[in-house]
Amino acid sequence: MNKATAVANPNIAFVKYWGKADEALNLPANPSLSMNLAGLTTVTTVAFRAGQTSDMVTIDGQSAAGEARERVVAHLDRVRALAGIGERAWVASRSDFPAGTGLASSSSAFAALSLAASRAAGLALDEPALSRLARLASGSACRSVPAGFSLWQGDTDRDSYARQVASPSHWALYDVVAVVSREHKAVGSHAGHALASTSPLHRARLDAVPGLLPAVRAAIEDRDLAALGGAAERDALAMHSVMMTSQPSLLYWLPPTLAVMQALRAWRQEGLAAYFTLDAGPNVHCLCEARDAGVLSERIWNLPGVLDVLVSGPGEGVRLVEYHLF
Ligand code: DP6
Repeated sequence: MNKATAVANPNIAFVKYWGKADEALNLPANPSLSMNLAGLTTVTTVAFRAGQTSDMVTIDGQSAAGEARERVVAHLDRVRALAGIGERAWVASRSDFPAGTGLASSSSAFAALSLAASRAAGLALDEPALSRLARLASGSACRSVPAGFSLWQGDTDRDSYARQVASPSHWALYDVVAVVSREHKAVGSHAGHALASTSPLHRARLDAVPGLLPAVRAAIEDRDLAALGGAAERDALAMHSVMMTSQPSLLYWLPPTLAVMQALRAWRQEGLAAYFTLDAGPNVHCLCEARDAGVLSERIWNLPGVLDVLVSGPGEGVRLVEYHLF
C-alpha cells in the first residue's frame, strides 16, 4: 500500500520544552511532560507516486509554500531515506483548530505526517521509532505519538523519544482553551527555541526542572490537580519569563491573555479549581477536572476578548484510519 492516513492530537505540556541541546536533532535542553488533547485533531494523508516530479503539499486546503512546505519535504526525505525509496509524495493535511497560535499545531501535524508517510512508504515503525522520527521534524510532535500523558526524555538521538506515563482513561483531566487570537504569531516556537539561551533566566528555569518533573509525574499518578496545576503554572510563567527576557524579546501575551490568567486565580479563591498554562502564543490553556469543564468554559466565554473556547480531555496516540483526504 502506498497511501496511508493518520490522525493525531496536539499536546499541551505541563513541563515545557524550551531551548535545544542539539538543533539539528531536536534534542531538548530539558525533559518535558504533556497530555494529548482529544478535542483537537489533525488528519494527514500521504501517497508516494512513481512519476511525480516533486512533492505536493496542501495544508487546510491551500498549497503550502515557504518554510511550511520545506519542513514537510525535509521530513518526507527522512522517511524516504529510512524506507530506501525515491518516489515523490502527495500530502494533504487538515486541522480542526487554528495553526501557529500557541495550540501546538506542529505537534499533531508532524506526528500524523510521521505515521502516514512511514506507512505509505511501506515501513511499520514501533512507537519509540515513530516518536523519534516525529521528534526530528518537531520536538513536541514526539509527545503526540503515545496515548494520554507522555514524558519526553533522553540525551541522544537513539534514546530521545516520548514514553507513556499514564493512559487517557487514567484521569479525566480537561484543558479548556481560551482562544484570544487566531493570528499567526510573528516568531513561532521553532525559531524561538534558539533565543532561549540569550535570556539570563534560562539557566534558572532549567535548574528547576529536575525538581518539577517528579512532582508533575506524581501529581498525574495521584490525580492531584492542585499539585499538577501549581507546577504547570510555575513552569509556564518561567518559560514566558525566559521568552520575555530573550534578545530579541518574545512577548506573546495580549491583554485578554492576562485577563484570563487573573480571572482563573480569582475563581480559584472562590473554590473553582482551575490552573493555567500557555505555549508560545497568547491563548490560555485552563486545566480542570472533567466535572468543572462546563462551568469553566461558560465563565471563560463571558470574559472580554475571548473569541472561542475549545474543550479537550486526554487524547489517544497517533493512529491510522481507513478513510483518506484524497
Ligand atoms: C512552547 O516543538 O514547536 O510549545 O522542535 O523547533 O518544532 P520545534 O519546536 P516545537 O516547540 C514547542 C514549544 C512549546 C512548549 C512545549 O510544547 O513543550
